Amino acid sequence: MNAPALETRDLAKRYGKIEALRGVSLSVEPGEIYGLLGQNGAGKTTLIKILLGITRNWKGEARLLGQPAGKSAVLARVGYLPEDHRFPEYHTGASLLQFYGQLLGVSRDLRRTRIPAILDTVGLADRMHTKIRGYSKGMKQRLGVAQALMHDPEVIFLDEPTDGVDPLGRKEIRTMILQLKAQNRTIFLNSHLLGEVELICDRVGILQKGRMVREGEVATLTRQKGSFLVGLAPGQTLPVAELQKLDYVVAPYGERWEIHLRDDQTIDPVVDFIRSQGLNLRHLVEKRQSLEDLFLETLKEREAPTQRPVPR
Ligand SMILES: Nc1ncnc2c1ncn2[C@@H]1O[C@H](COP(=O)(O)OP(=O)(O)O)[C@@H](O)[C@H]1O
Ligand SMILES: [Mg+2]
Repeated sequence: MNAPALETRDLAKRYGKIEALRGVSLSVEPGEIYGLLGQNGAGKTTLIKILLGITRNWKGEARLLGQPAGKSAVLARVGYLPEDHRFPEYHTGASLLQFYGQLLGVSRDLRRTRIPAILDTVGLADRMHTKIRGYSKGMKQRLGVAQALMHDPEVIFLDEPTDGVDPLGRKEIRTMILQLKAQNRTIFLNSHLLGEVELICDRVGILQKGRMVREGEVATLTRQKGSFLVGLAPGQTLPVAELQKLDYVVAPYGERWEIHLRDDQTIDPVVDFIRSQGLNLRHLVEKRQSLEDLFLETLKEREAPTQRPVPR
């Protein structure tokens, strides 16, 4: 197996009394899109800044491309779209990339081929000679990514890439991120917006007050364990009482029925029972919750203990 593109172990950071990170462990494989999610103040930006060597005096382990975080040779292989960045508005997309390419020491020949290719990747090819002043927020974010691609990085950090961007602009940013993945780059993105992240991330971690509270593949996290929706042919009714006698938890769900499985139960006896009754099964799916539902549920679970009575 390949070495992880980046990894942290028990990462902890304090700003005075504020514990921004309280022991965060994660690992991202090369070529993956990883989403670090959480409310504002959860510690997402701090984690990126540690990996990039911007933030110092932290505890634990942090490695990027096999090297301890902050090594400058590694930074040359990394791209970064910071939160709330701004470019001078008198540039056009193309002139900005020329300028940053020169700053980064990208040769004239490479700039000549790379700039149009990058503007194509980020979907700005047709606007490259327009002044940034006239760009939408989404276009500015995509130009920010274009700038971060000038030195052809392997790993790209995107801090809140869709913050303040309208729905169409967000979709364009998602398309762009998938393009970056298709180019075999590793993408680490921070976001407090969940709904859109589940559409493109391979894995996500949910950070809350500096702790990782959930982590995994999006598909796995959003599967509700042991819950099925059952639908029968029109006009047929599920014998709920009979199923309850068989010890299943059944509840109506619109035109359908929701069946919760206990730990040791499977759905097969339900299917057998439906068939034995001469009923026609038309719909059987495992129920999924959205990442947003999962996130809100996680917040509730975690916040509940603080409501315990104050000891006397
Ligand atoms: N330079 C800093 N000085 C003091 N506190 C900071 C600094 N940077 C971040 N914090 C605090 O650390 C916590 C985590 O912040 P941050 O990593 O920016 O979270 P997020 O990116 O998830 O919104 C917050 O409580 C924030 O106020
Ligand atoms: Mg942040």
